[in-house]
Amino acid sequence: MGRGTPLSCLGPACCLLLLLGDYGALGSRGKQRGPLEERQSAVTEAAPWGRARYEAVKKQLGAVGALSKQYWQYLACKVWQEGCEKEEEEKTSRGPGWSLPLVGQDYLEILSAWYCSFGKCCKTGDCRIINNITGLELDLHEQLHGQHLAKEVVIRAVRGFLQSPQPQKALVLSFHGWSGTGKNFVARMVAAHLYRDGLKSECVRVFIALFHFPHHKYVDSYKVQLEKQISETVQLCEQSLFIFDEAEKLHSGLLDVIKPFMARSDKGQQDNRRSIFLFLSNIGGSAINEVALDFWRAGRAREEIPMELLEQQLRLEMLQLAENGYAHSRLLEENLVDFFVPFLPLEYHHVKLCARDAFLARGLPYTEAALDEVARMMVFVPKEEKLFSAQGCKSVSQRINYFIP
Ligand SMILES: *[C@@H]1O[C@H](CO)[C@@H](O)[C@H](O)[C@H]1NC(C)=O
Repeated sequence: MGRGTPLSCLGPACCLLLLLGDYGALGSRGKQRGPLEERQSAVTEAAPWGRARYEAVKKQLGAVGALSKQYWQYLACKVWQEGCEKEEEEKTSRGPGWSLPLVGQDYLEILSAWYCSFGKCCKTGDCRIINNITGLELDLHEQLHGQHLAKEVVIRAVRGFLQSPQPQKALVLSFHGWSGTGKNFVARMVAAHLYRDGLKSECVRVFIALFHFPHHKYVDSYKVQLEKQISETVQLCEQSLFIFDEAEKLHSGLLDVIKPFMARSDKGQQDNRRSIFLFLSNIGGSAINEVALDFWRAGRAREEIPMELLEQQLRLEMLQLAENGYAHSRLLEENLVDFFVPFLPLEYHHVKLCARDAFLARGLPYTEAALDEVARMMVFVPKEEKLFSAQGCKSVSQRINYFIP
């Protein structure tokens, strides 16, 4: 929840609070209540509106289109201090035809709840979408360890995409790296900072290849489902996020379904819907590790590893796999990937940082010795150097359980 202006309000209940606060004069609600009280009462008041009632109101709304336009203008004026002059003008020129009390407070409340359920009363135009890029950047800096490239590429790509007034195609990012290096973590973070409800948002869909599409023989029905889910989400949300985990195991047929949603739309439609696709896979993980190891052996800092070198390696490896019909590789062949995001293997001190975060996240005190012990529980490879954690930071947060008194 933001602070300051009423616009920083994000939830539907909160939107409602703005409305209630502003035509409080119509009913029993006083205007003098503090923001916290209002928020609480808005929440409790929002609760009784069941789905059925919404639906009923939605039906009626067709008949009051003209009225609602006036009403929202009034609202915009009160809440955003926008378009007030216009409202005044129209009011005087049209005479007393439009007057709020006639409508009835109850009705207005339902109307506003309905309106806010679509989230149109938020700064982004949709309360479900928050696009907190600054927050994303901040949290990646603090919590994503050892991934200077991934951090930079993701922020640059997402920011550029969101700032572009009318992107020509969906943003497609391909995450590569060993397990435990942070691919899921970053995907989750993107969801959390772009959407109010994070991964639970109705605008965000996560597909895990082996979980959602486990049997090859059912590919045809998976295709139908997937197509339906993607198109429904795209219609429901002006900005959607699709995450495909274990993308290396995605059946080629499913990719055919996804492709049209990612491709450049050259139909010249004035559609400013946006979609972001994240494909997470461990393809290329070994190639990335080789590069990191070479740098270490040459006594160079991992931060010096250039993106170009890794991208080249990733392309090579993916093209080799493409010959075996890997769906994920076809993304590359068909030029659908906008950015490769390499995740480097994690070293001992990175694992310690993950352990520290895990303690902090649970509000537990920690000692340097405890962090060392957690890190020592991981297996490090290769055999001689014992440089990289074979599981990255995976399950580090569970491992701290041993150190809780
Ligand atoms: C953006 O994210 C940061 C970091 O998580 C958070 O502190 C801040 O309150 C968020 N801003 C909004 C407007 O949600």
